[in-house]
Amino acid sequence: MANILITGGSGLVGSMLTNKLLKKGYQVSWLSRSKKQKRSDITVYEWDIAQNYIEKGALESADVLIHLAGAGVADERWTTERKRQIRDSRILSTKLLYDTLVQLKYYPSLSLPKIVIGASAIGIYGLNTGNKLLVEQSPSASDFLATVVKDWEEQLDKFADLQVRAVRIRVGVVLSDKGGALPKLMLPVKLCVGAALGNGSQYLSWIHIDDLCEIFIQAIENQSMQGVFNGVAPNPVTNREMTQKIAKVLHRPLFLPNIPEGILNLAMGEMVGIVTGGNRVSSEKIQQAGFQFRFNFLEEALKDLIK
Ligand SMILES: NC(=O)c1ccc[n+]([C@@H]2O[C@H](COP(=O)([O-])OP(=O)(O)OC[C@H]3O[C@@H](n4cnc5c(N)ncnc54)[C@H](OP(=O)(O)O)[C@@H]3O)[C@@H](O)[C@H]2O)c1
Repeated sequence: MANILITGGSGLVGSMLTNKLLKKGYQVSWLSRSKKQKRSDITVYEWDIAQNYIEKGALESADVLIHLAGAGVADERWTTERKRQIRDSRILSTKLLYDTLVQLKYYPSLSLPKIVIGASAIGIYGLNTGNKLLVEQSPSASDFLATVVKDWEEQLDKFADLQVRAVRIRVGVVLSDKGGALPKLMLPVKLCVGAALGNGSQYLSWIHIDDLCEIFIQAIENQSMQGVFNGVAPNPVTNREMTQKIAKVLHRPLFLPNIPEGILNLAMGEMVGIVTGGNRVSSEKIQQAGFQFRFNFLEEALKDLIK
């Protein structure tokens, strides 16, 4: 069975993907900023992106590289320093992986990854695209996030030059009970102060974490998958619908008016666009590649996650 190296394996998606891969009999190792507080059932290699350092053995023993690492986009206010971290942790990390593989290619006796799968994000399309259905060929936007994702993808694209099968998954808003957006969306509703954000009509292209991990596994196993795919469920909803469905599944009332953008702006600063904006992204290409979603509709996903 193939040996899979995951960067950012300790994160929300990486942890579940690791469990699923181990269950299927794959060997999994992580490339992480620290070996501390990590799991005892997998090998953890260290890297230091600023120092251009990857621990020896990490890439040399991997058949598949899955690159998920990146500083959380919605974890902290976007100061200049935080924006640098969001950018560098994606673009410089991808460059480091690529440059290291280029160097290792000089040693033909080494067995290097033949498949590179990178996380990307639907933020590439921008957050003010209304109800236009966005496909992989849709143009990229020019705001901060879109520019980061575009540059990140340009680095990921380079792996194709190394005769590896390169796949990029443009990840939507991941719904999980372990972290990410859902607990943040649920909290005010649980406290009976839930309300749609901004005008509420902005689209939210969500995906159940289980389906997302299965997409990554399909990208490993389906030899014909190559290039870019949106990683979103087939039926995106508006922010208002999301709030209403969460309230329904939680059996909570929803009576407050929408929270105006101005107030959100005060609380969130520049990153307000993440919640007052959104986009409606198509899952058709990944479905054409043979992927079958377990969670097609939001309500069934929420019922599975909110127990
Ligand atoms: N979750 C979503 O809704 C969503 C939506 C769109 C795109 N994505 C993308 O999908 C990928 C995985 O998402 P996730 O939710 O699993 O992310 P996550 O939980 O935030 O985990 C990402 C991992 O990246 C590493 N990391 C964090 N800060 C870093 C930094 N400054 N430099 C280098 N590495 C750093 C950490 O691993 P170590 O501590 O082991 O180094 C962390 O566990 C990310 O690239 C994210 O941008 C996620």
